[in-house]
Amino acid sequence: MLKSPFQIVRGRYIPQMPDSLAGSVKIVEGNKTQSVADREDIERIFPNTYGMPVLTFEPINEEKIYPVVNVGVVLSGGQAPGGHNVISGLFDGLKKCNKNNRLYGFLGGPLGMVDNEYKELTEDLVDNYRNTGGFDIIGSGRTKLEEQAQYNKVIENCKKLDINAIVIIGGDDSNTNACILAEYFIQKKSKIQVLGVPKTIDGDLKNEVVEASFGFDTACKVYSGLIGNIERDANSSKKYYHFIKLMGRSASHITLECALQTHPNITIISEEVEKKNMTLEDVVNYISDIVIQRAEQGYNFGTALIPEGLVEFIPAMKKLIADLNDCMVKLGSKIDSIESNRERRELVAGELSPDSAEIFTSLPNSFANELLLDRDPHGNVQVSLIETEKLLIDMVKAKIKKMRKAGEFQSKFKGQPHFFGYEGRCASPSNFDANYSYTLGFTTSLLISEGKTGYIACVKNLVKPVSEWIPGGAPITMMMNMEKRQGKFKPVIQKALVDLNGEPFAKLQEMRKKWAKNTMYIYPGPIQYFGPPEVSEQTTETLKYEFNV
Ligand code: FBP
Repeated sequence: MLKSPFQIVRGRYIPQMPDSLAGSVKIVEGNKTQSVADREDIERIFPNTYGMPVLTFEPINEEKIYPVVNVGVVLSGGQAPGGHNVISGLFDGLKKCNKNNRLYGFLGGPLGMVDNEYKELTEDLVDNYRNTGGFDIIGSGRTKLEEQAQYNKVIENCKKLDINAIVIIGGDDSNTNACILAEYFIQKKSKIQVLGVPKTIDGDLKNEVVEASFGFDTACKVYSGLIGNIERDANSSKKYYHFIKLMGRSASHITLECALQTHPNITIISEEVEKKNMTLEDVVNYISDIVIQRAEQGYNFGTALIPEGLVEFIPAMKKLIADLNDCMVKLGSKIDSIESNRERRELVAGELSPDSAEIFTSLPNSFANELLLDRDPHGNVQVSLIETEKLLIDMVKAKIKKMRKAGEFQSKFKGQPHFFGYEGRCASPSNFDANYSYTLGFTTSLLISEGKTGYIACVKNLVKPVSEWIPGGAPITMMMNMEKRQGKFKPVIQKALVDLNGEPFAKLQEMRKKWAKNTMYIYPGPIQYFGPPEVSEQTTETLKYEFNV
């Protein structure tokens, strides 16, 4: 494998780990748990894995060698920096638990477990991927395992390889799947354990036990570095408004974090838009008012951060999208067989409720077409394909044009659209993510060796030095509630949206008027992997504000 000088040097980095994992450990059980909501339903659906206690580890003075296990690992969903370090931490941890343990990687996401596509992860192979971005060691995929026939196939394939445990590295949907598999295996008297690891750049898999998902830190640092460069360009040429859409298909954590790192003029937070019951027009007016205010001071440039999931949070649009989801399930292959966009729109409009049909037909055609694109396997609209940044530029431009005609605005407005997502998902993990994801992988090896199933690996105290981090495990059922998916209520992990009463959002609220009116950009620069700790060892602003550091 050809490597750049950076890859070679970075490959030698030895991730830091909490002191508590230095030697052998014993499990300490906390109190019994309950799901975040819909307790009766969740307990009924998960009779064997509901209510299990939160776990932590306590160091012990004797050397503990565990029985031999074979483990299969899957990378699921969108890439996030640190995936390879979860695997290397898992590999090293398993070898420490028993040198005869073996690790297999299922290829291309969850489907690899069904199709029995795998490769053994040997030391040489793992060594090649330490501290690298990407999921290419075994690939990823978004297939949702939903049918019992698929679950049975997984059991059959695991038997062939003598696999005792499966590790699913994924976001909320994938860990929901892990929980369902864990419960199913117990019900079928299979001894295969299933463990999850919290991954997603979106940062929306967090709760009282999971402080952050791995990958969020690195992705936000990459985007913030780029936003800073754009801000400096805007402030140099003074002629463009840059509308930057940021990944995060539901929650606006990435947008909020990048705003706290770069101080843009405009930041839209989807959760606030929903809370204030804003329409698309309200959002456009909010942006236009800032453009007008800045023009009055002679500033005809700026930066606006737009969360990827915005359209789904505008209440009227949310209702429309929910109706469209149901309608597309109902129409099934009929809609796929129509090639003309106009005919597809007409067919769908005829099926919608009168309110939703009115909104749908009033949207620009290109935007309405984007809302009809295929859903992902979990039934979500693929918001990364919806060009909200362009839609908003067009709408602000139209409003300003009208004002200019009426003699109410004399300046210029020129918009430049950007979409940052893929630029950060496979970046080399920051020191934080390299340490965190390695620790998560290592922790998972202990949960497996201790015979646990239905748990997600978690590490607390993340704002403290790594040596003081507290690794452990939490039952996935405690994160669950019932939600409507593809027309039916299903148990799923509750997504963490931006907390409008939380400290990170309070900071944005405190500063945003000043950032709008003035030009107060700050430039984070690229991720620093080496050098002074004040640049190389920093965690996110979100974690710092959440834990009052
Ligand atoms: P996960 O939730 O699977 O981690 O994926 C996050 C994400 O990067 C979103 O921010 C984005 O909307 C989506 O994946 C895009 O996925 P894809 O590349 O499959 O279209």
